[in-house]
Amino acid sequence: MTGRRGPTLLSLGLNRARDTVTAQTPVTDLDEQTARDELARLAKVLGGANAAYHTSDDPVISDADYDALKRRNSEIEAQFPGLKRKDSPSEQVGATPSEGFSKVTHAVPMLSLANAFDDTDVVEFDGRIRKYLGLDGAAALSYTAEPKIDGLSLSLRYEKGELVQAATRGDGTVGENVTANARTIHNVPQSLNGAPDVLEVRGEVYMSHPDFEALNARQAEAGQKQFANPRNAAAGSLRQLDATITRARPLEFFAYAWGALSEPLAETQMGAIERLNALGFQTNPLTIICDSPEAMVAHYRDIEQQRASLGYDIDGVVYKVNDLGLQGRLGFRSTTPRWAIAHKFPAELAWTRLDSIDIQVGRTGALSPVARLAPVTVGGVVVSNATLHNEDYIAGRDNKGDEIREGKDIRVGDWVQVYRAGDVIPKVADVDLSKRSKDAPVFEMPHSCPQCGSDAVREPGDAVRRCTGGLICPAQAVEKLKHFVSRSAFDIDGLGAKQVEQFYADGWIAEPADIFELRAKYGSGVQQLKNREGWGDKSASNLFDAIDDRRNIPLNRVIFALGIRHVGDAAANLLALHYATWDAFSAAMRTAQEGNPAWNDLLSIDGVGAVMATSLATTFNQAAEIASIDRLVAHLDIQTAARPDTAGSPVAGKTVVFTGTLEKMTRAEAKARAEALGAKVSGSVSAKTDILVAGPGAGSKAKKAVELGIETLDEDAWLELIAPL
Ligand code: IVH
Repeated sequence: MTGRRGPTLLSLGLNRARDTVTAQTPVTDLDEQTARDELARLAKVLGGANAAYHTSDDPVISDADYDALKRRNSEIEAQFPGLKRKDSPSEQVGATPSEGFSKVTHAVPMLSLANAFDDTDVVEFDGRIRKYLGLDGAAALSYTAEPKIDGLSLSLRYEKGELVQAATRGDGTVGENVTANARTIHNVPQSLNGAPDVLEVRGEVYMSHPDFEALNARQAEAGQKQFANPRNAAAGSLRQLDATITRARPLEFFAYAWGALSEPLAETQMGAIERLNALGFQTNPLTIICDSPEAMVAHYRDIEQQRASLGYDIDGVVYKVNDLGLQGRLGFRSTTPRWAIAHKFPAELAWTRLDSIDIQVGRTGALSPVARLAPVTVGGVVVSNATLHNEDYIAGRDNKGDEIREGKDIRVGDWVQVYRAGDVIPKVADVDLSKRSKDAPVFEMPHSCPQCGSDAVREPGDAVRRCTGGLICPAQAVEKLKHFVSRSAFDIDGLGAKQVEQFYADGWIAEPADIFELRAKYGSGVQQLKNREGWGDKSASNLFDAIDDRRNIPLNRVIFALGIRHVGDAAANLLALHYATWDAFSAAMRTAQEGNPAWNDLLSIDGVGAVMATSLATTFNQAAEIASIDRLVAHLDIQTAARPDTAGSPVAGKTVVFTGTLEKMTRAEAKARAEALGAKVSGSVSAKTDILVAGPGAGSKAKKAVELGIETLDEDAWLELIAPL
């Protein structure tokens, strides 16, 4: 059965042209009244169609239309949380159970933190900040230092003092709406007195040690599953579709940051935390101000001493620049703030036996040895696999050829010490040579691919042995496809790793373009998806719709999805912002060759180095790759990339060159700020330059700008130009 069945189109107030066609007013352009009206109409349409779903045989909305309207409803709610209706379709449990929680787009992204692992990293963090701000070593600069809580982050939105929405971090941009559940947490205030009109409070949901022990005891009594650690228990409890279960779980909340605000909370980080505390939030009493990296490290040692007796899990100490004005100047890298860092505690360790070493083949052909271990508990989590990186690592050398583990190699049958740091895959820290049998053979990496038999070679300078089979290697092809449908790439609902493996095994898909031909080939005719085991009418048509939904896709996702070596999520973003369109990007990649203008332009992107540039240029130089990419792109409608917040920016899209000495900011800061406002910063003046910002000592560039008639500003005039933002 496909289609929501129920009352007629007209009685639901459904306008097919308006509701089922994709061209709708973007939610960001809606005014409040239109949004309210649209939510009312959507509640009626979706509620009616849903209620009548099982009672009539007269289809009015297809499942795809139903899902599209529901998504639209969630998007409007995310943009106007205060307008969310009591009868909101997104709160209707059971309406579309597979969706789970509705989605919330964070008004301000929820970022993560860069890590420091030793004292030197902390000194370097301070050094980087001083350099960026142009402060010398003697200038005063203070930081807050506070425990890093090992739970899960939560964003609470208050409007006019009332809690209106709670969302998990999700991928940082879109999280899950867990409002009903968050309301059950005893130290999440439902309302606030004297708070800014809009206040998003961010912090960590966690479970205390005694509550965790008691919960596991209750679970055991009831014959239910045990949680491995307090963090898993907290996550499992918050992400319950049934809020009554969450209510029965003893969760707590520490506030340590904020998102959207209608007015500043304070001038300093410490002041803001004190204000949150005064508003009724629990904040961490171990938060102090430090005036130097030495003081920060001393507080770290102090907290480390207290760790076991705190009564809740922490995994490090977070340092944040105290002055919020400076935080603003420092800004963000793609996913982490420049003004904060997490100083992690050393990982926990355990000894176990290495049963075997398996070789996995990745999407770029890399052969990765994986340790299969006798299961052992490390820091509350059962570990049975560990990464062994590459053959040098197994032999006891790092990628520079220096000794690791005092040069001890790893052999099958060894007793190994494994450790876990955060969520990363466990690693091998040490080997007990006294327990090794005399005839244990030295481990040798295979010289042919265990999946396709092609030669596996190690290029000079590469630590990794790679299968040379390319697209003929099934492992590479499947891993590329899995990467293609992964969360930061095409993220196609209903098409996960398992489905990709099955479709690949049956020859239904061999490369990404095939995904977009599935409906045409297997939607009707002799072989049909709906007739496959585990599939039916509805799930098949849902998958085809989900695939069609992704034909229109942001440029950064396409670039990331190609799975090019060294081009991760953040790099794909940078590339998309730089080139803006697929045509510009692909033309540049096809022409880029060491030293030519396209190559130099590629390298001018902050965050793109020679290794990445080579990888991109090599990929776009291979006939088979290009054919596969072109075949894919023919199915897509790729969106132009634009910085979301540069709408009113006077410098968006302009090419700016800085020259001479800047006195109020460093070059790095000037560049980062200009780019954040949508400008492109170039190193040389040409006819394409729009603005030259010239400080004292400007020479040939300023002269050239005058010759070319380019607008030239001094530093103050530039700051004035961008000041309103
Ligand atoms: S500040 C913009 N402070 O650690 C940065 N994060 O590894 C906002 N966390 O996603 C985060 N304790 O979930 C901050 N005292 C603390 C924290 C903390 C735990 C978590 C948070 C974040 C993750 C990053």
